Amino acid sequence: MTAASDHEFGGVSTDLKLSVVGNYLRQFTIALRPQFEHLWYVDAFAGTGERTVIIPSQAADMFGPGADARIERQRGSARIAIEVEPKFDRLVFMEKRPKHVAALNSLKSSHPNRNIEVIPGDANTAILSMLRNQNTWARIRAVMFLDPYGMTVEWQTLEAIRETQAIDVWYLVSLSGLFRQATRDAEDLDFSKRAALTRMIGTPDWEKDWYQMSRRTDMFGDVDERLARTAEVDDMERYFADRLADLFPAVLPPLRLNDDRGIPQFALFFAISNPKPAAIGLAKRIAGHILKAGISSKVRP
Ligand SMILES: C[S@@+](CC[C@H](N)C(=O)[O-])C[C@H]1O[C@@H](n2cnc3c(N)ncnc32)[C@H](O)[C@@H]1O
Repeated sequence: MTAASDHEFGGVSTDLKLSVVGNYLRQFTIALRPQFEHLWYVDAFAGTGERTVIIPSQAADMFGPGADARIERQRGSARIAIEVEPKFDRLVFMEKRPKHVAALNSLKSSHPNRNIEVIPGDANTAILSMLRNQNTWARIRAVMFLDPYGMTVEWQTLEAIRETQAIDVWYLVSLSGLFRQATRDAEDLDFSKRAALTRMIGTPDWEKDWYQMSRRTDMFGDVDERLARTAEVDDMERYFADRLADLFPAVLPPLRLNDDRGIPQFALFFAISNPKPAAIGLAKRIAGHILKAGISSKVRP
């Protein structure tokens, strides 16, 4: 039976993504609790607080009896953040889908002693408005999780986050979004694809950097000249990493997340907006260690 909080998403890499971010949140509050009174968590694509995983049925074999398919409810990022110890002082959950907003509100109601705010609507608008209304970040340190399905996060949103100098960001960048919108043949790039890429990357330069004229001679000697994308997924990931590194004081090499057929889907980036060397050193140490453990868990047989 389904529930209001049912939210099935992600693939084989979702556990890894949530364990990397969850580990960071724990280490973050342990390290910063003694120095800061105000530790915040902002989940801009918060979902429902839960993740519904369908475990497929298993046929009986020589090793044992079969099992029926079943539904398992696991913790999503919002619930993971609520349960972090030492606790965050404030948790902000942003979410566009009304059904998910309702589930987040009921999660909030079940934690009446916690400072939880649920903001319905588009994450870009909600982030810009939250940041505009916050006069000072001097005594606050925050972690923001940007976990969209696709290419929703606009570059100007990242610029506003960077300006706070107080928010560290985990950003799940959709590589599949980039390579699907940036079609192989430039003739297939329409207005909406170009606009989506430029909104996310923050410059229209990707087009000249990713495409080149190619010349092909067919078996009849006819020459076909066309503008085609020469940038592959690794180049696109590097390009986006360079864009982030131009904006943020520090960015770590991302964790690549593939689907179950091994096709790249996402790159999980960590960017630090505080320019102070001590803050960068601490965040890099914690996140770097967790990301390395994440990468080695992927290659472990
Ligand atoms: C991948 S899910 C997030 C999962 C969540 N981080 C978790 O671990 O439980 C993405 C969520 O973003 C929401 N969403 C989609 N577009 C959005 C937007 N423009 N602004 C805010 N939320 C959006 C979707 O409804 C969905 O719940």
